[in-house]
Amino acid sequence: MANQIGPFNPESMSAPHGENKTNIKRVNKIYYFSGTGNSLLVARKLAARLSKPWAEKDPKSNADLSVLETELIPIASADSAKVSADEKINCLGLVFPVYMSNPPHIVLDFIAKMPKADYVFVVLTCGMMVGDALYKVQSAIDKTKNRMNAGYVIPLISNFIVLPKTKSDKKVDQSFSKIDDKVTFICKNVETGFFHMDKQTSPVLVKPINWVAFDMMYEKIPELDKKFTVNDNCTACGTCVRVCPVDNIDLKDKKPEWNHRCEMCFACINWCPESAINWTKITKNKNRYQCRGMAADDLILR
Ligand SMILES: Cc1cc2nc3c(=O)[nH]c(=O)nc-3n(C[C@H](O)[C@H](O)[C@H](O)COP(=O)(O)O)c2cc1C
Ligand code: SF4
Ligand code: SF4
Repeated sequence: MANQIGPFNPESMSAPHGENKTNIKRVNKIYYFSGTGNSLLVARKLAARLSKPWAEKDPKSNADLSVLETELIPIASADSAKVSADEKINCLGLVFPVYMSNPPHIVLDFIAKMPKADYVFVVLTCGMMVGDALYKVQSAIDKTKNRMNAGYVIPLISNFIVLPKTKSDKKVDQSFSKIDDKVTFICKNVETGFFHMDKQTSPVLVKPINWVAFDMMYEKIPELDKKFTVNDNCTACGTCVRVCPVDNIDLKDKKPEWNHRCEMCFACINWCPESAINWTKITKNKNRYQCRGMAADDLILR
């Protein structure tokens, strides 16, 4: 059911009583977490689209509406939750991947300290089994001063190269070609302030796997990096160190070492130019995954 809350009504953007309107900077903020670029691609498209409507005129007064910036902020950056005192967040978007049918641990930590916004939407990217991830995010947000106004799932391709590839190249093309329409739909709902919740997409038969195996594995994620190994193809280039969003890898004696505060984003294994990293024996001889159009530099935060 449509439930319009209208954060994009110019009147609802006026400063609270007692505040000088001109001193309040209205902003949209898109926070993202991404290992191999799928979520970053979607976040960039959203940020580009959400910046547009603000160059318009107020339909009532014909006054110029100030152009509203949409900032793109990595959740993993140290000061991601900081908002300056003269900012008011109209719309806050969260974009991130699904891990074991759950939101990444780092995203749940961020939600607990997330700044207050008038309208909050969440976009999950995934392979094909989102499980209850969207509801889990919603219940985490409900415990804060924010409310989740909309939630979306964008199935793309899995970067969890442990599992067999589930989509043909044609299906992958189809998935990517749908992103722009989905972004248009999301932005329209943002601009009108509509409530929306995508359906969860796990096949019924897979649900028991979600509940038991995935949830158990999810709890152990920080230490699953003990299963990473590196072979003699390593050239000590340091790419794995740089792409790790949580600073979990050090180069020691010209070889990467993992420090057990992993998010399992699989950036290190997928971006290594020599395919020298493996996670258990299962990833040997498996193709690495990087989102099309992305380079390792796009994922480096510092
Ligand atoms: C450890 C791990 C677990 C994953 N679990 C799931 C899952 O349960 N369901 C799913 O559909 N995709 C799963 N994926 C795939 C990612 O959610 C998907 O590829 C996502 O779009 C990657 O986003 P990124 O490129 O922004 O990192 C998993 C990926 C990793 C690395
Ligand atoms: S990215 Fe690969 S080659 Fe470069 S240091 Fe890491 S493991 Fe070695
Ligand atoms: S160690 Fe690898 S899998 Fe773990 S968070 Fe860093 S880049 Fe991601």
